[in-house]
Amino acid sequence: MVNGSSNSPVVFHINGEKHTVDGNSGISPNTALVDYIRDVADLKGTKVMCREGGCGACTVTAKIVDPNSGSIIHKSVNACLTPVLSCDGWDISTIESLGNKHEGYHVIQNRLVNFHGTQCGYCTPGMVMNMYGLMGSGKEIGMEDIEKNLDGNICRCTGYRPILDAFKSFANDASNDLKQKCADIEDCATCPMKKGNGESCMAQTVKEKSIKFHSGQEWKSPKTLENALKAANECNKAGVAFRIVAGNTSTGIFKNQPAPTVFIDVTGIPELKKTTVDQHGIILGGGTSLSEVLRIMREASTTPGLEYGKKVATHLERVANVSVRNNGTIGGNLMIKHAHNDFPSDVFVILETLRASIQIVSLKSGQRETVSVSLPDFLRTNMDGKLIKSISLPTRLGYFYRSFKITRRYQNAHAYVNAGFLFKIEKKGESFIVAERPRIVFGGVSGDFIHATSAEEYLEGKDLSQENTLTKALESLEKQLKPQSGALESSPKYRTHMAKALLYKTILEIIGKKANDKLQSGSSDLERIMTSGTQTYDAGNTETNLFKSVPKCESNIQASGEAEYTGDIPVQRNELYGAFVLSTVANGDISNIDASEALKVEGVERFVSASDIPGLNDVMKYNAWPSMIQEPVFAAKKISTHGQAIGLVLATSTELARSAAKLVKVTYENVTTPIVKIEQAIAKAKEEGTFARQTVGVFKTAPSEEIKVAHTVKGTCDFGSQYHFYMETQSVICHPREDGIDIYCCTQWMEHVQHTVGMILNIPSNSVNVQVRRLGGGFGGKGTRTTFVAAACAVATWVSRRPCRIVLDLDTNMSMIGKRSPYHIPYEVGFDDEGRIGSLKADLICDTGCSSNEATTFIAMLHIQNCYKAIGWEVGTHFVFTNTPSNTTVRAPGSVQSVAAIEWIMDHIGNYLKKDPLEIRMKNLLNTGDALLFGHGPPATYQRENMIPKIVEQMKSTADYEARNEYISLFNKQNRWKKRGFSVVPVRYNVEYFSTNYPVSLAIYHVDGHVAVSHGAIEMGQGINTKVIQAIAHGLQIPMDRIKVKPSNTFVGANAFVTAGSIASELAVYCATKACEQIRENLRPILEKLENPTWDKLIKEAHAAKVNLTASYTPTRKDDLKGYDVWVVCANEVEIDVLTGEYKILRTDVYEDVGRSLSPAIDMGQIEGGYIFGQGYWTTEKIIYDENTGKLLTNGTWDYKPPECKDIPQDFRVTLLSNQHNAQGVLGSKATGEPVTDAAFGVVLAMRNAIASARADAGNTDWFQMSGPVTPEDIAMLCLTDTTHLTV
Ligand SMILES: Cc1cc2nc3c(=O)[nH]c(=O)nc-3n(C[C@H](O)[C@H](O)[C@H](O)COP(=O)(O)OP(=O)(O)OC[C@H]3O[C@@H](n4cnc5c(N)ncnc54)[C@H](O)[C@@H]3O)c2cc1C
Ligand code: FES
Ligand code: FES
Repeated sequence: MVNGSSNSPVVFHINGEKHTVDGNSGISPNTALVDYIRDVADLKGTKVMCREGGCGACTVTAKIVDPNSGSIIHKSVNACLTPVLSCDGWDISTIESLGNKHEGYHVIQNRLVNFHGTQCGYCTPGMVMNMYGLMGSGKEIGMEDIEKNLDGNICRCTGYRPILDAFKSFANDASNDLKQKCADIEDCATCPMKKGNGESCMAQTVKEKSIKFHSGQEWKSPKTLENALKAANECNKAGVAFRIVAGNTSTGIFKNQPAPTVFIDVTGIPELKKTTVDQHGIILGGGTSLSEVLRIMREASTTPGLEYGKKVATHLERVANVSVRNNGTIGGNLMIKHAHNDFPSDVFVILETLRASIQIVSLKSGQRETVSVSLPDFLRTNMDGKLIKSISLPTRLGYFYRSFKITRRYQNAHAYVNAGFLFKIEKKGESFIVAERPRIVFGGVSGDFIHATSAEEYLEGKDLSQENTLTKALESLEKQLKPQSGALESSPKYRTHMAKALLYKTILEIIGKKANDKLQSGSSDLERIMTSGTQTYDAGNTETNLFKSVPKCESNIQASGEAEYTGDIPVQRNELYGAFVLSTVANGDISNIDASEALKVEGVERFVSASDIPGLNDVMKYNAWPSMIQEPVFAAKKISTHGQAIGLVLATSTELARSAAKLVKVTYENVTTPIVKIEQAIAKAKEEGTFARQTVGVFKTAPSEEIKVAHTVKGTCDFGSQYHFYMETQSVICHPREDGIDIYCCTQWMEHVQHTVGMILNIPSNSVNVQVRRLGGGFGGKGTRTTFVAAACAVATWVSRRPCRIVLDLDTNMSMIGKRSPYHIPYEVGFDDEGRIGSLKADLICDTGCSSNEATTFIAMLHIQNCYKAIGWEVGTHFVFTNTPSNTTVRAPGSVQSVAAIEWIMDHIGNYLKKDPLEIRMKNLLNTGDALLFGHGPPATYQRENMIPKIVEQMKSTADYEARNEYISLFNKQNRWKKRGFSVVPVRYNVEYFSTNYPVSLAIYHVDGHVAVSHGAIEMGQGINTKVIQAIAHGLQIPMDRIKVKPSNTFVGANAFVTAGSIASELAVYCATKACEQIRENLRPILEKLENPTWDKLIKEAHAAKVNLTASYTPTRKDDLKGYDVWVVCANEVEIDVLTGEYKILRTDVYEDVGRSLSPAIDMGQIEGGYIFGQGYWTTEKIIYDENTGKLLTNGTWDYKPPECKDIPQDFRVTLLSNQHNAQGVLGSKATGEPVTDAAFGVVLAMRNAIASARADAGNTDWFQMSGPVTPEDIAMLCLTDTTHLTV
């Protein structure tokens, strides 16, 4: 026990309710606050996804007493990284404290709802709590603060714009537009406003404690440095493993550290939080949170000599994210660097640049001893039993300071490279003399490289404005750099380039106007201004709620956390939790599985594997989807991918099951090096002679006499993979039932789960009852892939006869589940002088992963023609195998890559002929009667009207096409180091009703006339439930609040096809409309008898007259539903930093024809979200497998980066084209979710044009290829900058 400490329990409040935790509470010192909140306090509104501090789903707020000042701090924190035992004295608020359907909703919730800021809703409670934390901080909030504050909260559905608008409407500088929207909206808020429990505060100061657990572990919370050191020393003496716990955020990065026996919680030690700022400098307590450091730095910057504080604060704003910074400490960050020298710590780089020192405290003969060391010496210091007491920063009067962080994503991403520069400059006339040895510090180069000592030495006394100085400094820097390489690092070449580029940028800034005018653009960072968005649509006149923007029917309960997802379903008595055992090789055979060690763990009940399966061990044997290759539930012998399921450990808690799964020993034989790259797979298939067979055919069109092919160009497009990143990971719960088994899961395809489980358990389909309430995002990843988890869970329930639950952790989800197929597309195109294509030979080669069951090649083929004529085309389709999980559908599968390929080809032609690529596109447009390459059956000619010319005309005027292009040319002429590019991409997205089976049943209750409806489609954020309610309200002429949508299930939704391809919303609306027609027909005789009856009276009378008040509808051939085209034009403007490769999307204009929108706000959300999904694919999201083991390396939020709110276009304008009634669609509407995802490729073409300008300045005007995604590294390398270009 720590001296003077008690073993009384930890006490904290959640939403005003007191909670006490001690060694008998059934929790462990590792238990995260989020698990306590969800499983013990039973508050399911707080969600959990990454457990890495990287997604924000788990955000809650806490009021705590600052141990130093005694004041109350109100902050948002990641409940996934916060140990519940560190919450002693905290007053925690979860989403439930804000508002609910009984008491009314909080104003933040109402705003989000009415600004249409929710789709699947899984991120929403975290978003609300993030905003609540910001508002609770008591600061004046500007729009910029709100945008910065959302840096740790990912939304995969919305594209952020509506969330930002909703929250910015609270800002003191909210734009007039937002204020106006608010004024309109507040009138339509349906519930009274609730203020939340923000006013009261139950946070309290707490005493030292020491809590022992049955496991032998101990939690100590000393309140003095001496006691903390004593506790550490005692552990050392006894040889007991211990860990200092500050913010505990490092566990989000290093997830698999062994649990220590003793935890020493230092968060309550006042001395560690003590800071001083005076004329001598700044002293920061080692336990100061990074948020606090940021505030102190900003405030200190007004003190002479501490001006650097402002730039440091700006850099710190890009370290981690707000919630991590609120808990994570400066000492903790430095200790990460101490343990992992190659960690690209921004804190370390900043402090070392400023020559900070670290005060380390330890006990020597029972007495406290403090030594002060430099940062490099700190890295060499044995820190065992010692603490970082403080960090001292000196004043730097008259110095120039600058630091950099170059990342893949603007916010919440660790550095590729970071750097800091400190120069003392003496200005003598026109010269800039380096008065003393400068400090040049780099991070991310290699573990032992800190200072560019040669460059530092060389530069002392030199004039920075001299060309010669720069050249020599860069030379000496380059000589010293030896970047380490690693699969997840950027290339050594790029990092060498970056180091030089950053020194160059710094020198350019110092010499300012002395540099050549054109070069001055190199000095500044690529800063983003605040995001803005415009949405244009004309809803026309509508008398009912159809065709009108209405809030989503479940958005209130999503914003309040009341919406239930699969993982929120209450636990049953006796329930077991499953964790997968995954293969650790990618290609080989299992020789033995030994689960004995796992089974010895108390609480582990069973190990389930292939031998437990009573029926067929194949998840893809499904008659409506002809599977070619067996995909087992659990591998029995053959292993095809790293991360393949081998078995399932069942235990009494998820934590136990996951740790026991690691104890299952699997041995392998015949292991060979895997194939993880498409090029390797193509070579192998060609070598083995299988390439020609692996095809869905070659498709051809006739050449034309009219087009004389005068030029030919060729190239290859290489496009990578993409993870769905749905915020709700795969989750399944199975309950044994008298008639078979009930399955609650997050599938997009209930029938697939139902029939597959039937076959696997060897029971008929009517014994398997599948129910789906909603999905926390799907994007194609929950089509067939959820069935793997459902099948495993069903087997577990079948053999154990107990309820079982599997909720995948992010690593398992990413490693086990397939993703978007990479493509390799070689092409050769022939064209005439005008750019008209007369021949095209291309191959769409798809990497399907380890099975071709979901090859997207035929969809790619369907879309490659896009909106163009196909004259003399010959397009082949191939699929090849890699040892990666079987790839699957991802938003706009196949079409994203093939549309990108043809658009790339258009630019290639434009470049060759030196013509505007838009002109080439317009020359090649498809017209009525032209030949079609694929997909429409005979006669294979186009029978519709191409809308692109009209939309392009509209774009040219509203997006200011000519003027902006002119300005860009001028900008590029005037600036060597910043370049802009523009692109226009048109899309024809052919929608076919590949299935119409989305049955709808509705029932009217005679007692009060209220309506219930269920459909066979799946609500996953796309607004299907809202559209169905709107259609019924319209069809029956009743208010929307009289209608409720019930969960989808395999009884009402029998035989329903997968909800995918954007068509399910329209078809469910179609069926709802038809069901309403039946009801109206049934009611007609009663209506004719009564005179203008109220709805309630009509229904009562009808019931009395034995009229059928239920109806259901499933389309048949008679309905003759026909497909149509959706038209999109997207104009993009980007700016790149030629030196670093960073970019920003200045403006994006999207024009989409949505027919007559059934629900414009929902369609707008689908378009904005769909565009950002595509943008992520082309920019920030990169999937990397280890080439030796086949392991997925980008398996969490640390390395995989979907866009965040500062990655979206700075100015994002979306127009729904008005008056576009679709004669073939449902009620005149069109599908919206996927077409725009294809158009996002425009961002690559705009980047290409910007890069081309930089290359031209570097003397190279040749065509160049680019592969996707395009990272800052790619941009910088493609710009062909070499050291000789870095001049002043
Ligand atoms: C999502 C995410 C993004 C991040 N992004 C960045 C980034 O962009 N740039 C960057 O630089 N960092 C980044 N980080 C790292 C982050 O700054 C650190 O996790 C944080 O500062 C660690 O502080 P902590 O208090 O939580 O440390 P803890 O996790 O509590 O502890 C970390 C280590 O330090 C030891 N320790 C803690 N305090 C002391 C002390 N006073 N004396 C001695 N030992 C101590 C602990 O024993 C432990 O070994 C990120 C982290 C996360 C989770
Ligand atoms: S679950 Fe906590 S940040 Fe993702
Ligand atoms: S609504 Fe944000 S993740 Fe779905």
